[in-house]
Amino acid sequence: MRVFSGIQPTSQLHIGNYLGVIKPWIDLQSANNECLFWVADLHALTVPYKPIELKKRTSEVVAAYLTAGLDPKKSIIFRQSDIKEHTELCWLLSTITPLGDLQRMTQFKDKSAKHAKNINAGLLNYPVLMAADILLYQTDLVPVGEDQKQHVELAKTLGKKFNNKFGEIFNLPKAVIPKSGARIMSLTEPNKKMSKSDTPTSYIALFDSPEEIKKKISSATTDSGKEVKFDIKNKAGVSNLLTIYSLFSEQPISEIEKQFKNKGYKEFKESLAELLIKKLKPFRELEAKPEYIDDILKQGAEKAQVIATETIQKVKKSMGLI
Ligand code: ADP
Ligand code: TRP
Repeated sequence: MRVFSGIQPTSQLHIGNYLGVIKPWIDLQSANNECLFWVADLHALTVPYKPIELKKRTSEVVAAYLTAGLDPKKSIIFRQSDIKEHTELCWLLSTITPLGDLQRMTQFKDKSAKHAKNINAGLLNYPVLMAADILLYQTDLVPVGEDQKQHVELAKTLGKKFNNKFGEIFNLPKAVIPKSGARIMSLTEPNKKMSKSDTPTSYIALFDSPEEIKKKISSATTDSGKEVKFDIKNKAGVSNLLTIYSLFSEQPISEIEKQFKNKGYKEFKESLAELLIKKLKPFRELEAKPEYIDDILKQGAEKAQVIATETIQKVKKSMGLI
């Protein structure tokens, strides 16, 4: 299977990104798939950003990929903007994309509300660029978090529409959403998804210090009860912490519940903070060597380019451009 996914270098990665996508990527890489994991820097331009920070963030994302276990010998690791065919295919696909479909996208509505002063056309066309990313590489599987499912479905719809109109060019992708971890919730508002665009107390960044981790976990919102028990409806905060505990410790939730039976939230939270401090140590100690990362991106781009060129030639031929 060809597996394809990326993350935007918008700001620090958090444990939601790690548990929802990066960790499942490692499993897919180990299962002998043909993997492309890359950095969506063109998508990151759709919300306000500082140009001098973009390259640094891109390097940080790649460094986090490597620390988490992505292996450039097994997976193609590259930067979106190095392959110009992404934007070329985006334009070609936009000519068959109904405007209404883009206006209906949940993320477009959310981000427009959040950045009311910067509702640019790129934000609306974001899912078309994402469809171009996916279809360009003849992707089978797209492992993403729950919030990106709608975009992957649009990519499939556009691929199908293109194939019906111009001939069988694209392989049709499928989203892969993890059973657990696809939606890690905010620490402060456990009914909202953990997001790096919210206040830092609501998420644990991969590079947070032990003190920050302790502080954030101890002040994470829980209910007024005492029992460490998984119950999304009545105990959203505790259930979210249990999910995080379970995924990092690789223990089933039922076992963790047993371990903290009659022990209360304080002890549970202290133990979770210790676990996170231990598991995130490699990220904290990470030393991003810029030349090494540039080299990986260069080699990745060379491999990605071969696939991109082949697809775009077929697309342009089928559309009457060549
Ligand atoms: P954010 O919403 O924090 O800005 P991104 O939109 O850059 O994160 O998401 C990068 C990837 O991480 C996507 O595949 C997304 O589905 C996944 N993801 C983001 N937040 C979470 C979360 N809270 N739980 C699980 N996966 C997440
Ligand atoms: N939109 C994705 C996110 O917010 C990033 C992304 C862009 C992506 N293009 C993609 C993910 C193609 C998977 C496949 O995280």
